[in-house]
Amino acid sequence: MRVFWDADFGEPGGPSRVEDEARIRSNLSAVRALIAWVSARGGVGKSALLANIAAVLALAGRKIAIVDADLNSPSIMPMLGMKAGRRGAIGDELEPAAGPLGLRIVSSEFLPEGDLPISFADIDEGPTLPQNGSRPKECSYLAAMRRLLGRTRFGAVDLIFVDLAPGTEQIYRMLKIAPQTKLLFSSHPSELSARATRAAIEIAQQFPDSVLGVIENMAGFNCDSCHRVRPLMPYGSLGAHAREVGIPVLERLPFDPRFAESCERGVIFVREYPQTPMGKQLVALAHAIDKAASNAQAGVATSA
Ligand SMILES: Nc1ncnc2c1ncn2[C@@H]1O[C@H](COP(=O)(O)OP(=O)(O)O)[C@@H](O)[C@H]1O
Ligand SMILES: [Mg+2]
Repeated sequence: MRVFWDADFGEPGGPSRVEDEARIRSNLSAVRALIAWVSARGGVGKSALLANIAAVLALAGRKIAIVDADLNSPSIMPMLGMKAGRRGAIGDELEPAAGPLGLRIVSSEFLPEGDLPISFADIDEGPTLPQNGSRPKECSYLAAMRRLLGRTRFGAVDLIFVDLAPGTEQIYRMLKIAPQTKLLFSSHPSELSARATRAAIEIAQQFPDSVLGVIENMAGFNCDSCHRVRPLMPYGSLGAHAREVGIPVLERLPFDPRFAESCERGVIFVREYPQTPMGKQLVALAHAIDKAASNAQAGVATSA
């Protein structure tokens, strides 16, 4: 029986790669939309927002899968309160973990069952570490993402959310693997983060049909003394730039310490605090994303 990460799986033109590409097309042909979450920098709340948006839609009856493609630093399973134990693949296929609300999760965290963790990296000229047997210690990032999308038994799902690692290079990786991908950008309003996100948006404009919109996170906080929403950090001009280039700002979310705390405990915020301003905004945002994906979805079934 072949193992999931076999030695040649990333070889250009190699049999595994050709098969992975074919399997991605077949896997995605039944999915309404594949939405990848992009952030130019880490720590802006991308994974936490994704987990909550997926939860809102699952509560509304959508069948959702999440691919945690932040391969070296996965976080979705613990955020959803799931044990991130390692699991084996079933032959050369992967069964997603059953998460809360029927969410189906696939993560590098439960791959493989081997002794050492795999390091996912851009390998141009072959691995730099000595490889042992058929299970590599170092894997091409792109090949690994291709494998996860191609070899996972998603089953009947409406939407697949992909949590990408931070960095604009992820846009290319994702669109190379699945050109029908729709992109969501998230950023917080610091000038550094906004500047990097503006650059990412410029890049994404090469693929204008792919961008669903921008979410500004941690855009303010509720001040207990003056009872107003006050800025959390100096305000970068991300929103203005997005509007200038015709990309919708889907939501501006506040900083809410209860949100961070829910994530730490692995409890779904929108379930625990649906009546808070943040909870209500997340519900509205999830439905806006669902709608935008439906409007844009014509390409998914046909271009896969
Ligand atoms: N609006 C928010 N209010 C409070 N905490 C937040 C908010 N958004 C994100 N966080 C917290 O910030 C931290 C980083 O979020 P995370 O989703 O891991 O970022 P990323 O995936 O972009 O690296 C987490 O502890 C998360 O709970
Ligand atoms: Mg993350």
